[in-house]
Amino acid sequence: MAIEPEIENQHNVLEAPINFLVPSGDKPRVNIPDQGRGLTERSGNFQKLSVPIQDGRGAAEGFTLDRNGFEFHRHQSDVVDFLDDGQVVPIYYPEIEELVKRATGGSRVHVFDHTIRIEDDGKRDSEAVRAPVEIAHNDYTDVSGPQRVRDLFEPEEAQRWLDRRYAVINVWRSIGAPAVTTPLAISDAHSMGPEDFIATDLVYKDRVGEISQIAHNDAQRWFYFSNMVRDEALLIKCFDSETDGRARFSAHTAFANPQAPKDAAPRESIEVRTLVSF
Ligand code: OGA
Ligand code: FE
Repeated sequence: MAIEPEIENQHNVLEAPINFLVPSGDKPRVNIPDQGRGLTERSGNFQKLSVPIQDGRGAAEGFTLDRNGFEFHRHQSDVVDFLDDGQVVPIYYPEIEELVKRATGGSRVHVFDHTIRIEDDGKRDSEAVRAPVEIAHNDYTDVSGPQRVRDLFEPEEAQRWLDRRYAVINVWRSIGAPAVTTPLAISDAHSMGPEDFIATDLVYKDRVGEISQIAHNDAQRWFYFSNMVRDEALLIKCFDSETDGRARFSAHTAFANPQAPKDAAPRESIEVRTLVSF
């Protein structure tokens, strides 16, 4: 089911360093500071490798969540200020539920979380939000996918979710100037081998989640969408309970864009996490 998008022009491919985990046999851990602010500590060794990252814009309609693990949509939001939770929760969450429903054909979509990321140090501190993540990872594993469902719902309701196919889909959007400096790279799910995903404990003050950090493999194919603007959305499949060969996990990371003009505005983004029931 691998796709060969029709993008052969070399000017659509850049080379940029991505941080990969070097597997050691020990289970790595990531310590998330209280309230998600301050310094995130990671155990383990990482290597920065320069990899080709292809601009998906030339074939944006060709990518699908089930084939590639990501999907690109034009999508307008009525939110004026994404830094205001009083707008994001009542306006953006329902907009995203609608978008994910339409994109996946799911019968029910539940938004459970959102994260604002600001690259500029001063503004990030004053807004008390998080920074871009420049480590290749996937947000969920075969363990934490179902665990998330059990954490979110009462036992009976959780069981109803778990009895059917369900998926975790992130929706990523630039909320400031076009995202030029640290865009999001995503890997084609079918270019990833199972050994590329290294289960990693995500340690919060009150719970331990599990993500995958990514070991490099030459077969991996990385994409990004250049200059993403506010009325565009990138859907990323982080987990799918269905094991029939469709994409179940992909990987993503922010990367420093070597082609960004020196005076380009630093990136600001929002990602929303959703559970989809089929
Ligand atoms: C995500 C994510 C990182 C970033 O959307 O899950 O990891 O830098 N984002 O935006
Ligand atoms: Fe992520």
